[in-house]
Amino acid sequence: MKKTLLLFTAFITLYSCKKDKVTGVITEKAMVVSARKEASKIGSDILQKGGNAFDAMVATELALAVSYPYAGNIGGGGFMVYRKNSGEIGALDYREKAPLAAHKNMYLDSLGNVIENKSTLGAMAVGIPGTVAGVFATHEKFGSLPIQEILKPIIALAKRGLIVTQKQEDRIKKYQHYFLEVNKDPILFDKPWKKGDTIKYPALAATLERIAINGRDEFYKGETAKRLVAFMQDNGGIITEEDLAKYEAKWRTPVTFTYDDLRIISMSPPASGGICLAQIMNGIEPFDLDKYGHNSTKAMQVITEAERRAYADRSFYLGDPDFVEIPIKTLISKEYTKNRMADFSFDKATPSTDVSHGSITMFESDETTHYSIVDQFGNAISATTTINGAYGSKLYCSDLGFFLNNEMDDFSSKPGIPNMFGLVGAEANKIEPEKRMLSSMTPTIVEKNGNLYMVVGTPGGSTIITSVLQTILNVHEFDMGMQEAVNQPRFHHQWLPDVIKMEPTGFDKKVKNKLRQLGYELDETNSPIIGKVDAILMLPNGKLEGGADPRGDDTAVGF
Ligand code: DON
Repeated sequence: MKKTLLLFTAFITLYSCKKDKVTGVITEKAMVVSARKEASKIGSDILQKGGNAFDAMVATELALAVSYPYAGNIGGGGFMVYRKNSGEIGALDYREKAPLAAHKNMYLDSLGNVIENKSTLGAMAVGIPGTVAGVFATHEKFGSLPIQEILKPIIALAKRGLIVTQKQEDRIKKYQHYFLEVNKDPILFDKPWKKGDTIKYPALAATLERIAINGRDEFYKGETAKRLVAFMQDNGGIITEEDLAKYEAKWRTPVTFTYDDLRIISMSPPASGGICLAQIMNGIEPFDLDKYGHNSTKAMQVITEAERRAYADRSFYLGDPDFVEIPIKTLISKEYTKNRMADFSFDKATPSTDVSHGSITMFESDETTHYSIVDQFGNAISATTTINGAYGSKLYCSDLGFFLNNEMDDFSSKPGIPNMFGLVGAEANKIEPEKRMLSSMTPTIVEKNGNLYMVVGTPGGSTIITSVLQTILNVHEFDMGMQEAVNQPRFHHQWLPDVIKMEPTGFDKKVKNKLRQLGYELDETNSPIIGKVDAILMLPNGKLEGGADPRGDDTAVGF
């Protein structure tokens, strides 16, 4: 909670005296921030041609599928939250679904143990992709330019190719042994690609060309669908033509809540992001974070304890809302969180073994990618898209030119057994045919005094929610600009395992020692980076400031 105006002003004055204040790209009217300059540019060009944020969403999402195969995709899915210039809000769920032949125990052996890698590598890990349905649903409802016009520069980019960056070279090298393990035949990414090389994507260009001509059904019912199913079955998968034909993106109601004078609009289930973010922010709102100081012991304690309790609830209550009843209203109420935080003390850490999900009477009816868009009309889009792990299941369909996701790992394969992000789940997130797996994705839009204020989101698996949280707090509580807020070192707690995961640089040694003394276990070894936040802040003078995460090749482009 922000204390007084006096304190606020004092802090601003102090802060602006700091020499190392960084500022992001500033534009007058419109901006796209994404994981690759080429994708941000294509999105921004669409806006400059007179397209709106929804046209730019289609362009940026598909341009990332070409330029950022690590996470950008047409073989995965995602979530989009929007706020129109009229203040109208909404959300789109284009999350993958379990195939019709999926079942609760599909990743267990005859003794009931989880079979290693079955939900993460190869064809059995793949959920029904939602991205193509997502972009077409967006375009159909809100688009203003013809789809062919939007796809044209993307197809040209795929044909022309993209220059390999240093970070991309490193990523390809790191995962190449999996490509060899999973794919029967050589794939494009087996080559020893080096920084400065150009990778061309002719197969993906051909797939996108067919989609541009025949529309969404090309992917779900047409020639592409048939070729994809043949490929999946040839690789031991269970996805059928019926699975693809039945896929639909769904419009959802976003989760909304307040924090001081902010209104937060975030993604609803099957993404856990909005609910968890609400629970954490409700938990910390009564405390004077701004007084404690950024990444101070007390601020980190309050945030960690609120996170611990929210993730315990996540694990128990959340799943696909079309399959399980979720007590959303209660979970995000200030009253409920007040009770959850009642046993918190600054004197010592609450062990996660003492924290379970809250009790509620059920009567209430390293590789995803995020982009943020604000258009020249004042419409805003926050979208996060993924194939889950780095290069998804590592299964690459050379015929069609894309990687397939391993999103099935986001289900709880067995209650209590952690998935690849260490998240444990329960009944609510068990595998069922046609169910959507629970996600941590948290595309978020923030209003201040009723006006558009910030667009924010990030990849990072379970750390997505807490990275979005810290970015909002850095701006609101600690008076940072957008780029500065994005650059700050980040930490994360998710109930189980009972550790504070921290980026290895940037935290005060004294703070770390104090936290250890209070009983917190710190893990600085497993996460060189936490999240890659791409965000936009509306400045008081009406301009836009981009926050493009330097942890990746992320770039803000606009005009
Ligand atoms: O939906 C989810 O929560 C995950 N599949 C997201 C994966 C992710 O962010 C990986 N990036 N580092």
